[in-house]
Amino acid sequence: MSRAGIAIDPDRLMARIRKLGEIGALPGGGVCRLALTEEDRAGRDLLVGWMRELGLEVRIDAIGNIFGLRRGREEGPPVMTGSHIDTVRTGGLYDGALGVLAGLEIVETLDRAGIGTRHPLVIAAFTNEEGARFPPDMMGSLVHVGALALEDALATRGIDGETVGACLERIGYAGDAPVGRPEARAFVELHIEQGPVLEREGVTIGAVEGVQGISWQALSLRGRSAHAGATPMAMRRDAGLVAAEIAVFARRLAREIGGDQVATVGSLRLSPDLVNVVPERAELTVDLRHTDDLRLREAERRLSAFAAEAAAREGVEIAFRQLARFAPVAFDPAMVARVEATARRLGRSVRRMPSGAGHDAQIMARVCPTAMIFVPSVGGISHNVEEYTAPEDLAAGAEVLLELLLDLLEGEGA
Ligand code: GLV
Ligand code: MN
Ligand code: MN
Repeated sequence: MSRAGIAIDPDRLMARIRKLGEIGALPGGGVCRLALTEEDRAGRDLLVGWMRELGLEVRIDAIGNIFGLRRGREEGPPVMTGSHIDTVRTGGLYDGALGVLAGLEIVETLDRAGIGTRHPLVIAAFTNEEGARFPPDMMGSLVHVGALALEDALATRGIDGETVGACLERIGYAGDAPVGRPEARAFVELHIEQGPVLEREGVTIGAVEGVQGISWQALSLRGRSAHAGATPMAMRRDAGLVAAEIAVFARRLAREIGGDQVATVGSLRLSPDLVNVVPERAELTVDLRHTDDLRLREAERRLSAFAAEAAAREGVEIAFRQLARFAPVAFDPAMVARVEATARRLGRSVRRMPSGAGHDAQIMARVCPTAMIFVPSVGGISHNVEEYTAPEDLAAGAEVLLELLLDLLEGEGA
């Protein structure tokens, strides 16, 4: 129960999460709502419908970000909360959706209790947070804060060759509101942890101190296709072999650098991709992350050097393309402390922690005081159809969000 004597309705929150999860639902559970697909459009339509039912003023900007405004007693910059509703190809029900739908739940809770606030409240759903179809990730929030030019974002080509601009037009979400508005006075994002720490320690709330640095690269390898039976090993220029060596090296690199270093080859495509042909081409991605930017740069350097060397050994041409690069982010210490204090006030166990995943909050932190609230992920699993967070933990996170927003909306602090 919040200090205002109100509480969110966990069943209503769960009902919305399940309803949104029906859009793009996968046969074995989980969801596929890649950014700017028909499924994304349907998810957006559902969200905008809910926003309108709740009386929010809906604005859609030129990159497709959706903002629902609940007016305050005063005009001026709103407090913003939210996240994203796009998913990876094999996503769960909670990544992103929780942050947006908890925002709606808080609006409904305030409305039913007849509670007005001094500052306006905005619920945001940012376009293409995942970056799984169109790198970089956090695209909508990057454009919102002016860190990525709208034209460059619209011209971005996805893994299927389509552009962001064309897809936004097709799904009807190339909005007419200018990007960069509304300017938030503070931003808070509720999200599942997506890792194992909270569950392992039996803690309900994570007060997120920052987000680790992210480096995404695409590597293109070009060798020569040849007969798998008739071509002696010494005469091959095998792009697939070099890709495999890079993937193995990435794992070794992470182990050698140690600490928080992680390294992933998540996409690997061979061509012509046949049993009896030496691969001519390989396209692979490398995702490197570390909380320390110096170590991250070391990882990038070593990976590039290894890849160039392995390609040269095999007589394969190599080209590198940076898909995304984010330095580690530290959230405003006062906001982190407020999350911690709010959770304690509500009787919740809480710990400070970094985020392993990227979030729109790390981009919003460039323009306003920003905080993130984590809730536990069962088994630490996310970007997986089995992603799960217990309803009572979702509700606990939403209660902390409500309490913190109430403070911010009355203008205490930020
Ligand atoms: C995006 O959500 C990422 O962390 O990959
Ligand atoms: Mn997310
Ligand atoms: Mn995600």
